[in-house]
Amino acid sequence: MKVPMAPDVTLRSALISEKEALEALQWRASLNNPGDREALLTHADAIEIPLDQLAGGLVFVAECAGGIIGFAAIVARGDGDSELDALFVEPGLWRRGYGKALLLHCVEAARRRGSAALHVVGNPHAEAFYRACGFDLVGATETRFGAGLLMRMGL
Ligand SMILES: CC(C)(COP(=O)(O)OP(=O)(O)OC[C@H]1O[C@@H](n2cnc3c(N)ncnc32)[C@H](O)[C@@H]1OP(=O)(O)O)[C@@H](O)C(=O)NCCC(=O)NCCS
Repeated sequence: MKVPMAPDVTLRSALISEKEALEALQWRASLNNPGDREALLTHADAIEIPLDQLAGGLVFVAECAGGIIGFAAIVARGDGDSELDALFVEPGLWRRGYGKALLLHCVEAARRRGSAALHVVGNPHAEAFYRACGFDLVGATETRFGAGLLMRMGL
């Protein structure tokens, strides 16, 4: 996967104390997806970053000029592969390479875990992003927010 790293971004594991700030960022990014707003507002509990994910060091933040501008998370799957569980960039800063930079960081973390593939249940709004980053569409599913795309990237 060719990923031009956004030059001004720093990537690191998230702190437990950053939980609320990251959830607020997730709200802002998600509400910016046309069509998702209503479903999200009726499932407000859906935006919650599990403490064990944060404690496990598999939530990563992107910082720019000292402020957090995005985050991503991977979780272990039973088959040894990894699942991209979150990827959100501050709206207003989209299309600057931050999403790809976060994704590359997740790819490296998944490789370190020994995963053979990274999977994601993608929001259809993000399909072009995932395809541009090297994911293939392998199926479809239903989530409580509507259609989900089963996408996979071999590592
Ligand atoms: C999806 C998301 C993380 C992408 O982050 P981003 O920082 O804008 O992505 P990048 O700038 O790294 O984009 C990399 C490439 O992906 C493709 N891409 C990204 N967004 C795209 C869009 N809306 N339409 C078409 N292609 C897109 C482009 O090829 C882009 O490269 P380019 O800008 O040089 O053409 C961001 O839009 C977001 O936070 N969305 C809301 C939350 C969400 O839907 N998350 C995914 C949940 S499954």
